[in-house]
Amino acid sequence: DSPRSQSCTCIAPINIAVIKYWGKSDEDQIIPLNDSISLTLDTDYMYTKTTATISTELTKDSIILNNEEASGDGVRFQNCLSEIRKLAASSKHASTVEKSKLKVAIVSQNNFPTKAGLASSASGYACLVFTLAQLFELESHKSELSALARRGSGSACRSLSGGFVQWFHESQPCVARPIAEAEHWPQLRCLVAVVSNTSKAVGSTEGMSRSVKTSKLLEYRIKHVVRDRVEEMKMAILQKDFVKFAELTMQDSNQFHAICLDTYPPLFYMNSTSQAIIQLVHRYNEIRQNIKVAYTFDAGPNAVLFMEEAELNRFASVFHAFFGSIPHESFFRGKIPDPVDSTK
Ligand code: PMV
Repeated sequence: DSPRSQSCTCIAPINIAVIKYWGKSDEDQIIPLNDSISLTLDTDYMYTKTTATISTELTKDSIILNNEEASGDGVRFQNCLSEIRKLAASSKHASTVEKSKLKVAIVSQNNFPTKAGLASSASGYACLVFTLAQLFELESHKSELSALARRGSGSACRSLSGGFVQWFHESQPCVARPIAEAEHWPQLRCLVAVVSNTSKAVGSTEGMSRSVKTSKLLEYRIKHVVRDRVEEMKMAILQKDFVKFAELTMQDSNQFHAICLDTYPPLFYMNSTSQAIIQLVHRYNEIRQNIKVAYTFDAGPNAVLFMEEAELNRFASVFHAFFGSIPHESFFRGKIPDPVDSTK
């Protein structure tokens, strides 16, 4: 017998791309133009928490995102839901098949700014798919769930695995798989500087399709840059070569934002504070006479900064001296220490 009502709650982390995904070859299926590489962060500080409920009493599917009934993302949500239902309906377990016929109510909450270029759609759709799979008791493999999450938001397919993850644009089905566990590089740390918590003006879906139509630089990236860069990045990660990892991360972020400017009409995701952070990181590395810190920015002004553990205190103090009023959070094992003094 199917239960009258059943709920399941899960949390999922965000992931930050160090080789960016920007541009699709298939908008409906969400197939990217290139492979991308990301780091899935800890769930200590930034995550999505989702509760899914199925009940014989529900008369329609619904989704409440951050206390508001979600409307704009309706098609993507329905795509994910119907793919999951299809899987459940073909299960060999009668209870799973029964559950697939019930309506579902989703309540989802991010504990960080939504739609501000902090990968909220990644953790959001990864969490949605994972929670539903648990609720329906699907015996799906992670990579199957990765393909389902992709239908909600491309980058979400990378949040189903922890550590260092690659999304393969030519794989069939199109999924993300781990390159290495987080424990592979335990010294690596990541700080997030929340520059602004307001929603971006142009969402990534519209932004990407505009870039694909108008940016010659995006064409150049796909043809001549990104394939080699993915291989170099993979090697840097496997060899724990921070200097190479940092260089590639910064170069790829910069190329992505150059493509945004090359898009017509242009996309401005970074602001003057983001640019000041970039300058600070380069100046910091110059004074340290080596590359000790890397920045990356997604479709928003907020900075994600990578460094090894040994650099964390020193950089945090310098950052605080310059941007003391900006709230910042951290993760990837370890909380940012309180600034000790303002060294230059
Ligand atoms: O998955 P979407 O549609 O939110 O696009 C994400 C695109 C970037 O965050 C800018 C890059 C990436 O690879 O995550």
